[in-house]
Amino acid sequence: MRPLAAIVAMSDEGVIGDGDALPWRISEDLKHFRRVTMGHALVMGRRTHDSIGRALPGRPNLVLSRTRAPVAEGAERVASLDEALVRAAGDPLPMIIGGAEIYRLAMPRVTELFLTEVHREVAGDVYFPDFDRAAFEERSRRPAESESDVEFVHLVRRS
Ligand SMILES: NC(=O)c1ccc[n+]([C@@H]2O[C@H](COP(=O)([O-])OP(=O)(O)OC[C@H]3O[C@@H](n4cnc5c(N)ncnc54)[C@H](OP(=O)(O)O)[C@@H]3O)[C@@H](O)[C@H]2O)c1
Repeated sequence: MRPLAAIVAMSDEGVIGDGDALPWRISEDLKHFRRVTMGHALVMGRRTHDSIGRALPGRPNLVLSRTRAPVAEGAERVASLDEALVRAAGDPLPMIIGGAEIYRLAMPRVTELFLTEVHREVAGDVYFPDFDRAAFEERSRRPAESESDVEFVHLVRRS
């Protein structure tokens, strides 16, 4: 399989969003996101792009949409996951950054998952799709420094 990563923060119940927003604000996770994704092509759904409200700097921003809805300056609209991956052809590890619809679309092709586990009960109505965790090996796990209930986990698909 071609290397393809996804990065997501989720609660133990699988919650990743509340309406258009994240259910939490964890600045250490935003820094982690920046460090992991910097320089890589970001592949996201139009709703996630809208909720970010701008193109994230230093990285191609590829926004999946079925319509001609405008995207922010510096971002590029693509019509399918395949088109996004063609645009990201030169990238050794394109990054799927959500939301739920795009994770669902991409998970069968994802070879690495950067998972931030948020061990909190949170209100939310957007969930990460079910996936076969046994198909992935846990390569690393480290607790956040600033939050006692957050861990950064790196999963790699077993070959
Ligand atoms: N916790 C996290 O790490 C994390 C990360 C990212 C997002 N989120 C949360 O996830 C939520 C947003 O997720 P969501 O599932 O509602 O939306 P989304 O996946 O961000 O975007 C959905 C949109 O993507 C486009 N799309 C979907 N499938 C497509 C396909 N096969 N081909 C082309 N375009 C396609 C459509 O855009 P059009 O309508 O324009 O056609 C669709 O409306 C928010 O709550 C956000 O905060 C959480």
